[in-house]
Amino acid sequence: TGYTTFDSGFVNTAATKSAITYIDGEHGILRYRGYPIEQIAQNSSFLETAWLLIYGELPSESELSAFDTRIRRHTLLHEDLRRFYDALPHNAHPMSVLSAGVSALSTYYQDSLDPKDPEQVELSMIRLLAKLPVMAAYAHKKSIGHAFLYPDNSLSFVDNFIKLNFGTLAEPYVVNPVVSKALERLLMLHEDHEQNASTSAVRLVGSTEANLFASVSGGINALSGPLHGGANEAVLTMLSDIKASGEGVQKYVERVKNKEAGVRLMGFGHRVYKNYDPRAKLVKESADAVLEALGVKDDLLDIAKELEFIALNDDYFKERKLYPNVDFYTGVIYKAMGFPPRMFTVLFAIGRLPGWIAHWREMNLDTTTKIGRPQQLYTGAVARDYPQA
Ligand code: CMC
Repeated sequence: TGYTTFDSGFVNTAATKSAITYIDGEHGILRYRGYPIEQIAQNSSFLETAWLLIYGELPSESELSAFDTRIRRHTLLHEDLRRFYDALPHNAHPMSVLSAGVSALSTYYQDSLDPKDPEQVELSMIRLLAKLPVMAAYAHKKSIGHAFLYPDNSLSFVDNFIKLNFGTLAEPYVVNPVVSKALERLLMLHEDHEQNASTSAVRLVGSTEANLFASVSGGINALSGPLHGGANEAVLTMLSDIKASGEGVQKYVERVKNKEAGVRLMGFGHRVYKNYDPRAKLVKESADAVLEALGVKDDLLDIAKELEFIALNDDYFKERKLYPNVDFYTGVIYKAMGFPPRMFTVLFAIGRLPGWIAHWREMNLDTTTKIGRPQQLYTGAVARDYPQA
């Protein structure tokens, strides 16, 4: 009825109201529930920020410890679900394995699927927070042909995840505190980013009253693309290709500017940030510190810095307001920690999970939510008669 506004890519259209995250793209501002991202990164923890995003306020000490304990109790996967991984090929992309696994959660945990039942909703949120890191680590182990470990609930959320990735059955494993601290900080920086493509996917699926696992599985698939979360892996591929080709950074930038097919400066540009991405600033600070603390020297970091310098001083990028985004430096850090590039977007997914949950929950609690159902401008054939024999 009435008229339809055309807004391909949702450049101007708000599809929802939300009280979770505030972004001012002109001034490089990002706040979770009003708290600046810089202060979150400095002072909070992954689970505390998750609580903040989901429930709206910082938790008390006892609330946080009860939340943590409850999550630790739910880390085990159903044994059949653990074996479900056997059915997937070892060379599958870990993001595909992860989305399949999360989708399968709704087959194993059928007692927490009702979005209208507050207790079931709580249980599904806890289960997902507890099990996603385990499933992510299994996707990694599967890809390198190593045996899966069981979670160690004496460890914190992040340390447990690190051990599941890098520990083996053969030897005891001690988590490196430098890796732990740096990974927790990176995960916090990824926790929410208002109506990005994957969160919008979670909301769209959830608007049909689909369960949380189904909605988040949709989000993981949306995140996997190279224009979204997949960019962190694509950045590393780009840096490695530049190094291997020996063509030099300037040559690569020229190819980007000439818009050669398929050549973009990955990790650059953002729909909302037109000045700088505050997360990228924080990640860049970490990159030098973490590589130094881990005693890693990586040419790819030098190439990244040279690329950034050249791009920031080039008219093509200046005119289009293209700046490094959160994905530009993360890959170099993840690589130094020992993660293979194919795991990078999986790390993004673990980081983003609290945001997806918070938005899904906010949408379900809002009694005015309608099913998401965009309009179109029809461009096909006009009415015509089916040919008669
Ligand atoms: N390299 C070269 N040119 C670019 C880039 C880039 N990375 N990004 C945008 N442009 C150009 C684009 O070609 C266009 O030029 P013109 O006006 O001459 O046609 C102009 O800048 C506007 O770009 P757009 O594609 O209309 O911008 P958008 O808001 O639709 O897309 C984006 C945003 C993030 C998809 C895009 O900047 C991009 O593809 N970046 C590379 C992938 C990337 O790093 N993604 C991660 C995003 S941040 C976190 C996350 O979601 O994971």
